[in-house]
Amino acid sequence: MTTIPMTEYYIQKSLELNLFWIRIIKEHFIFMQANLMCQDVPYIQQTEEFKSQFEGFLHETICLANGLIGSEVLLSGELLTDKTLSAERKTVELTGIKIGIPITVEECNLTPGTLPMPGLSPELAANISSLNERIITCACSVAEFMEKVYQDVIHCRLYTTKLPSIYAHQRRETLNYIKLLRRLQNHQRLDPQFIIVEEEMFWNYNMMVHAEAMRQLLDFSEQAMIKKANDFAQRFHNLVSKFRDDAKPPVGLKQITSESRRATVAIRDFKATSTDRILECQLKGVMSALLTDHLLRETNYYLRILNAKV
Ligand SMILES: [Fe+2]
Ligand SMILES: [Fe+2]
Repeated sequence: MTTIPMTEYYIQKSLELNLFWIRIIKEHFIFMQANLMCQDVPYIQQTEEFKSQFEGFLHETICLANGLIGSEVLLSGELLTDKTLSAERKTVELTGIKIGIPITVEECNLTPGTLPMPGLSPELAANISSLNERIITCACSVAEFMEKVYQDVIHCRLYTTKLPSIYAHQRRETLNYIKLLRRLQNHQRLDPQFIIVEEEMFWNYNMMVHAEAMRQLLDFSEQAMIKKANDFAQRFHNLVSKFRDDAKPPVGLKQITSESRRATVAIRDFKATSTDRILECQLKGVMSALLTDHLLRETNYYLRILNAKV
């Protein structure tokens, strides 16, 4: 348990959480835009609106965050990787979807800070609190929208070229972000062992879904990569099965966490290689480099949590 004063902890954790998750949520809408049919104007408009709202939140967070976030977060590759900017540029070039690239450039220039930070003003905490509340409200609407899209797709009221389970996956990520942000707003600090079990349950499942999604989105000529994706899906499925639904620590948690970390390092390398190969036009499929880079950043986020706790 950290001994950092509550306000500093609150400010730093809010900024770090928001920098990671806001970009993730706004990218879910970029991927959705790329998969909608041009006749589905209300969905396209709603998607565009959410994307710009989250871009606005991201810009606001970056303006507040300089010199206030931890170097381990900044260096983890969860906020940006060395491929994010190229992946965004390529996506704009290939799809015509608008992406706030200047915001990414701005984020590349963020500098870290170390705690304790003397002189943090109550106004800053109040600004962050108001931002967090606005994000929670908007993210709740996002989760509702994701559920509606998922239901419309599985009941054949809407056709998109995205796999239906991916909408459910993105909704789950949105709900997780809301939960973590609410905890910060309530100034809750939970038992570290509860958190590691909760995070492993959530992220091992997500890593399994990422592997399953990549397996489905690769061209069928990419047999070696499909096999790798399938092996990762199986490896994370085994890890998922070790946890019970009630988030109670399983027997042998330490060994399970070590295996989670080994598997996560391996899938991180797989996603990084996939992103490089897509950017070099050396991997066939229907994934964009921005999608695999997005999966890579989610993996880097999980890996930082695993490395901090083990
Ligand atoms: Fe995601
Ligand atoms: Fe994900």
